Amino acid sequence: MNILVLGSGGREHAIAWALNKSPKCEKLYVAPGNGGTAGFAENVGGLNAEDGAAVLAFAQEHAIDLVVIGPEAPLVAGVADVLRAEGIPVFGPDAQGAQLEGSKTFCKEFMMRHNLPTAEYLSTSDEAAAHAYIDEKGAPIVVKADGLAAGKGVVVAQTAEEAHAAVTECFAGAFGDAGSTVVVEECLTGPECSMLAFVSAGKAYCMAPSQDHKRAYDGDEGPNTGGMGAYSPVPIVTDEELARMEEVMAQAAAATAEEFDHDYRGVLYGGFMLTPAGPKLLEYNARFGDPETQVVLPRLNSDLVDVMLAVAEGRPDDIELEWADKWAVTVVLASEGYPRAYEKGKVITGIDAADALDDVKVYHAGTAMRDGQLVTSGGRVLNVTAMGESFQSARELAYKACGLIQFEGKQNRTDIGQRAINGRSSWD
Ligand code: AMP
Ligand code: GLY
Repeated sequence: MNILVLGSGGREHAIAWALNKSPKCEKLYVAPGNGGTAGFAENVGGLNAEDGAAVLAFAQEHAIDLVVIGPEAPLVAGVADVLRAEGIPVFGPDAQGAQLEGSKTFCKEFMMRHNLPTAEYLSTSDEAAAHAYIDEKGAPIVVKADGLAAGKGVVVAQTAEEAHAAVTECFAGAFGDAGSTVVVEECLTGPECSMLAFVSAGKAYCMAPSQDHKRAYDGDEGPNTGGMGAYSPVPIVTDEELARMEEVMAQAAAATAEEFDHDYRGVLYGGFMLTPAGPKLLEYNARFGDPETQVVLPRLNSDLVDVMLAVAEGRPDDIELEWADKWAVTVVLASEGYPRAYEKGKVITGIDAADALDDVKVYHAGTAMRDGQLVTSGGRVLNVTAMGESFQSARELAYKACGLIQFEGKQNRTDIGQRAINGRSSWD
């Protein structure tokens, strides 16, 4: 089969790597790809992944049998719709399904209609109403820009002043059109847990749970980032919580079949908070998580081409998921300054030595080849994933591998997974 993956991050490297392991994968393209995917697939630099017509033309010209859409932007832009209309199997929902991620209001209304557990909220495009809701409910309270804001449109306000300021900023255009409607919601507490599911024809096949680390610095301090590390499965989740999350994902999948115009075919990502009153949804995303994918897919023993094709063709009963009985931990190596301004073009060494360790895989997130050398080209540069028989051993191996890799300004958290080792009480 000829397969095209859209995207350029660590998530797409992990997806492409898993697809490439399948004997069914003959020719693999990644558009635009990165320094890591260049090693085993053909990077397609000139293709705009958000331009449906351009992706369709490429797919037809290269006889592509399956298109896998990694990031949210092409999904929200309707790239899947264009491809599906021409009969090309696509892994990723159409634009309507992607609204679950593209609009927080759309998502909250979906959750309400289907009685899915989530925080109480107000969605409004009337600034005065947002301020009045904050006055009524008090702090702590959460303010979110409605649309896509690359993870930056959320303020968890500890005081009413902070919340009012966030609302003012949103309506002043800090997030462009994405902030012309805001969602103000109840502040939930507890550990976060990501539950990703393959969804097709109204059925959900949950993957192993995982946990991201969104803050930039140790101790969950500093600004929010795209994610600084992750692990899977999650030792602090109880069987009861796991069952409840799976139930919520199944309910949501059934709801997509019931009310959407076209079948939702792709990943549905439930971002949960494990509150004292049970797991509640913070959000849905319409794609794999980044960096969660880098700890979930390495544990998948099943053939990912079979799974994705079954999803894309609406054959959920053919989905079989087998997981390695191992723990996985990934640590993000970032550029100095990330998530704020950072320099690019720093020469990277030591990846081969790290990759040569048993049970270690280095996924590239922001790398490029320049004059025959691998250099940094993004804020999150590499995801160093290790697997182990125990959580502790996977974690130690990941940090050992991180130590072998060097580039000027290398920055990483040193406490990925530490709270899970300390136990549930470390979230109290
Ligand atoms: P989101 O983009 O909706 O996932 O929000 C980004 C981050 O903000 C989440 O990962 C949480 O850490 C935090 N967050 C979002 N909503 C809430 C909430 N209702 N209560 C507490 N924290 C939240
Ligand atoms: N790791 C968070 C996300 O992918 O949205």
